Amino acid sequence: MFSSIFTTTTSLATLIWCFSLLLSSHSFSVHTNETDRLALLAIKSQFHDPLEVTSSWDTSVNLCQWTGVTCGRRHQRVTELYLRNQSLGGTLSPYVGNLSFLKLIHLGDNNFYGEIPDEVGRLSRLETLVVANNSFSGKIPTNLSRCSNLINFLSHKNNLVGEIPADIGYSSWSKLEKLSIAVNHLRGQLPASIGNLSALQAFDVGENTLHGRIPESLGQLRSLKFLNVEENNFSGMVPVSIYNISSLEMIFLPANRLEGILPLNIGFNLPNLKSLIVAQNNLTGPIPHSLSNASNLIELNLGQNHFTGKVSIDFNGLSDLAWLSFEANNLGAEASNDLDFVFSLTNCSKLEWLGLRKNQFGGNLPHLVGNENLCGGLDELHLPSCPLKGSRKSKVTFLVKVIIPVIMSCLILSACFLVVYARRRRSAHKDSNSLLIEQKFPFVSYAALRKATNEFSTSNMIGQGSFGIVYKGIFSENGMVVAVKGVSGVFVAEFEALRNIRHRNLIKIITICSSIDSKGADFKALVYEYMENGSLEE
Ligand SMILES: *[C@@H]1O[C@H](CO)[C@@H](O)[C@H](O)[C@H]1NC(C)=O
Ligand SMILES: *[C@@H]1O[C@H](CO)[C@@H](O)[C@H](O)[C@H]1NC(C)=O
Ligand SMILES: *[C@@H]1O[C@H](CO)[C@@H](O)[C@H](O)[C@H]1NC(C)=O
Ligand SMILES: *[C@@H]1O[C@H](CO)[C@@H](O)[C@H](O)[C@H]1NC(C)=O
Ligand SMILES: *[C@@H]1O[C@H](CO)[C@@H](O)[C@H](O)[C@H]1NC(C)=O
Ligand SMILES: *[C@@H]1O[C@H](CO)[C@@H](O)[C@H](O)[C@H]1NC(C)=O
Ligand SMILES: *[C@@H]1O[C@H](CO)[C@@H](O)[C@H](O)[C@H]1NC(C)=O
Ligand SMILES: *[C@@H]1O[C@H](CO)[C@@H](O)[C@H](O)[C@H]1NC(C)=O
Ligand SMILES: *[C@@H]1O[C@H](CO)[C@@H](O)[C@H](O)[C@H]1NC(C)=O
Ligand SMILES: *[C@@H]1O[C@H](CO)[C@@H](O)[C@H](O)[C@H]1NC(C)=O
Ligand SMILES: *[C@@H]1O[C@H](CO)[C@@H](O)[C@H](O)[C@H]1NC(C)=O
Repeated sequence: MFSSIFTTTTSLATLIWCFSLLLSSHSFSVHTNETDRLALLAIKSQFHDPLEVTSSWDTSVNLCQWTGVTCGRRHQRVTELYLRNQSLGGTLSPYVGNLSFLKLIHLGDNNFYGEIPDEVGRLSRLETLVVANNSFSGKIPTNLSRCSNLINFLSHKNNLVGEIPADIGYSSWSKLEKLSIAVNHLRGQLPASIGNLSALQAFDVGENTLHGRIPESLGQLRSLKFLNVEENNFSGMVPVSIYNISSLEMIFLPANRLEGILPLNIGFNLPNLKSLIVAQNNLTGPIPHSLSNASNLIELNLGQNHFTGKVSIDFNGLSDLAWLSFEANNLGAEASNDLDFVFSLTNCSKLEWLGLRKNQFGGNLPHLVGNENLCGGLDELHLPSCPLKGSRKSKVTFLVKVIIPVIMSCLILSACFLVVYARRRRSAHKDSNSLLIEQKFPFVSYAALRKATNEFSTSNMIGQGSFGIVYKGIFSENGMVVAVKGVSGVFVAEFEALRNIRHRNLIKIITICSSIDSKGADFKALVYEYMENGSLEE
């Protein structure tokens, strides 16, 4: 009797258990496009949508036809939510976690605020999450680490706070290739576990308030191409292991408090190196001769450190070199042959910026003056500062014949960068440096420039180069005399998050114009302080 009651109870329990299983599997199967519909409507209800982009999100229309929504062919479930740059605001509803077939969410370049909901962590199929350039706040959702198929997580330029989750590398992000959390307010240290994200190709934590050491474990990232830690408060030795990642193309470490040396074999170990920007740190030691072998190098900026010794790089093989700065180090020994390396720049036909000021370089370069080969295809401009020591006369001549053209081109290129940069920074939040940039370089209209340059008349032309024509302009409102440079072509960054312009602001740009010209074409111009020839000697 007792045992029979017991048996009945057990079988009843089993039955209930089976039933509940059935129920849950049933409720899973009704997770259909109806769930998606409810989720999208809930999401929409929290949007601020001034352009009525989501007006098609209406029950009378099949949701696969809704703007920004893509469905999978087989299941007719939502796989992509692409609402980039649609002037959308508001918050992101937790219902997003119910769109269980989602592979891509792109909400970049909008005005979303509030937290990135933890429910995003339920999207096990998610491959791309872009929320960059919004005003999202709160922490990086810890549950995001449950998205084991995540390949791209781009959340730069938001107001994210808190620390980078320490277990970031214990998570299942084995497929993560791009991680950009730059330009936020993140604090704390870089977790060593980042070294476990073995598929990582781009890692950008620039412009936060991170501190402590750069972990040695980053050297384990054997697929890394792009590393940016600029403008944080990192200190201590730069782990030498980093300079061993042969896939690295771009290394950006500027504006921290980093110490250490550049390994002597850096140029041999990093054959793909295009950019090495380590300016504004506390690096020491010699500049490795092996950089002569880094034949893909485009920018080398070692400025504002404590490098010492004679520069022995042979630049002959570096035919793509466009930026070179050794400024403000302790290089050279006041010796007459200190600047001999400059001869090897003769064949660097793409060189646009050369910064050698504030070192102990001795000697001068009179025999180089008039060498038409040196950096042949460069433009002209007037600039106040002289980068070289030496006799006053040769100094000025060198400046006029060599450095000025070099710098002019630099201006153009860096201004190109700045145009893009400033545009990207437009809706910057208050306490970021970005606002500063915006204020420093207000936009002027095409019409105003056109007027100032007398309709871009030939009589106002003061130079012409590979990047366009330079005009002298006068703003009638305040009598300010400027040089205006039209820029054609668009700067394309390999990585969207590449934004290290500030360390190259070697120029006095008054303003930037970016608009549409009278023919309806994209027009970009840069306005520089105008220097009369006479001011050169200062
Ligand atoms: C859900 O899918 C069915 C069949 O694919 C379709 O007829 C229906 O319109 C869809 N529902 C919504 C809300 O789109
Ligand atoms: C955003 O859209 C505006 C207007 O459609 C356009 O001018 C701007 O270039 C876009 N920005 C981005 C980052 O795509
Ligand atoms: C979807 O998500 C919301 C909030 O995260 C939840 O309340 C709701 O029950 C979920 N399920 C369905 C089927 O909508
Ligand atoms: C976040 O993950 C934890 C387990 O790691 C889970 O218990 C929790 O429900 C998740 N939160 C959401 C909102 O999915
Ligand atoms: C991840 O990295 C940490 C610290 O570098 C290490 O101790 C741990 O074993 C790694 N975990 C996995 C799962 O690889
Ligand atoms: C950087 O770190 C130093 C010492 O660790 C500290 O004194 C300083 O306040 C920090 N700077 C910022 C901007 O956090
Ligand atoms: C760098 O690589 C070389 C050879 O591949 C190896 O001998 C050396 O130990 C490595 N150094 C570091 C710091 O990983
Ligand atoms: C740089 O290093 C020198 C000594 O090598 C030290 O005196 C100085 O304080 C350091 N500067 C910073 C900003 O860490
Ligand atoms: C470095 O370049 C020189 C000259 O091009 C070449 O002879 C040498 O083999 C290279 N060394 C390495 C380690 O690649
Ligand atoms: C520059 O290149 C030319 C041919 O491209 C070559 O003949 C010349 O030797 C090179 N100059 C130097 C200094 O290597
Ligand atoms: C940021 O988003 C705004 C629209 O909200 C857009 O105009 C701007 O171009 C975006 N900035 C960048 C750097 O893409």
